[in-house]
Amino acid sequence: MADQVEGTVQNVLEQESLKWVFVGGKGGVGKTTCSSILSILLASVRSSVLIISTDPAHNLSDAFQQRFTKTPTLVNGFSNLYAMEVDPAVEHEDMGSSDGMDSLVSELAGAIPGIDEAMSFAEMLKLVQTMDYSVIVFDTAPTDHTLRLLQLPSVLEKGLAKMMSLKNKFGGLFNQMTRMFGMGDDFGEDAILGKLEGMKDVIEQVNKQFKDPDMTTSVCVCIPEFLSLYETERLVQELTKFEIDTHNIIINQVIFDDEDVESKLLKARMKMQQKYLDQFYMLYDDFNITKLPLLPEEVTGVEALKAFSRHFTTPYQPLASRDQVERLEQRVSGLQHQLKEAEEELERVKRGKHRA
Ligand SMILES: Nc1ncnc2c1ncn2[C@@H]1O[C@H](COP(=O)(O)OP(=O)(O)OP(=O)(O)O)[C@@H](O)[C@H]1O
Ligand SMILES: [Mg+2]
Repeated sequence: MADQVEGTVQNVLEQESLKWVFVGGKGGVGKTTCSSILSILLASVRSSVLIISTDPAHNLSDAFQQRFTKTPTLVNGFSNLYAMEVDPAVEHEDMGSSDGMDSLVSELAGAIPGIDEAMSFAEMLKLVQTMDYSVIVFDTAPTDHTLRLLQLPSVLEKGLAKMMSLKNKFGGLFNQMTRMFGMGDDFGEDAILGKLEGMKDVIEQVNKQFKDPDMTTSVCVCIPEFLSLYETERLVQELTKFEIDTHNIIINQVIFDDEDVESKLLKARMKMQQKYLDQFYMLYDDFNITKLPLLPEEVTGVEALKAFSRHFTTPYQPLASRDQVERLEQRVSGLQHQLKEAEEELERVKRGKHRA
């Protein structure tokens, strides 16, 4: 067995210079849960925190049991934690009020693949930049999406260069066209390019911040299974290629031996998990690795998220290493819980019989 030093995400909470935290990983491993909890924990040490979901499936609303929109909304029960859900693939809406302008821009955008998405991402970042949050956490859609998001700034930079060369080639043609459509100078070529140039500055600035390990880090969430291990390695390599810092891995859904496990199935799965846990610790011995237990229920609602957050800051202690008092306490509380459930069930059955 590899030497498993139990880690936590305390390093993220202590890094005061951090401005951007990306949470990535395979589908369904717990990215939304982990990013929500990270944002809750950060809110206790920072002046203001924003969590942004860029997943079109938007599940922050599920995690916090509260509806969010594309503008930051205060999370219930907090005074400094805000959440918003955006869709980077959605058409940019604020580029202009005229239909003619919109179609001209989308025509141009169509000529440069990815520029649409890049521009709405840029607009979002621009908005967020002006809002002055102390730290911003991104809950992303599965791996490829995260990686695409991180590449958007360079897509935009390339797109702009192409626009500039078009401008030089066709001279005042755009201006003539916009005048012809009666859009006036406000929507002319210079206005369009001006807007893009304005965004370029934001994008360049953010791009620089993303590559600065003092300001940006990416947390990889995974589960102890082969595909997830493989995917994590791919994500880590790509992040390194884009010069995005990453030094935290959260292994979720670990089956802990909190109760004496009798089930053959669970025993077999624990053995399987141990094999991949060993590999994670071997491959990523320079990372902070945080392990989270698989719970019998979903982690939804602020209370559940808060309760689960303790595993982010205090490392798990295997049952065997705890003292006898603690083990017995654990067992008593487990049995009490089971007793309460059985009593409630009994009451329900009795009431049902009574009515019949
Ligand atoms: N350790 C856990 N124990 C039990 N349930 C969990 C645990 N972690 C997450 N869940 C539940 O699993 C489901 C998926 O988690 P989550 O939404 O965080 O994953 P995700 O990686 O964001 O998924 P997607 O890729 O679809 O966005 C949720 O219902 C969540 O409450
Ligand atoms: Mg999610």
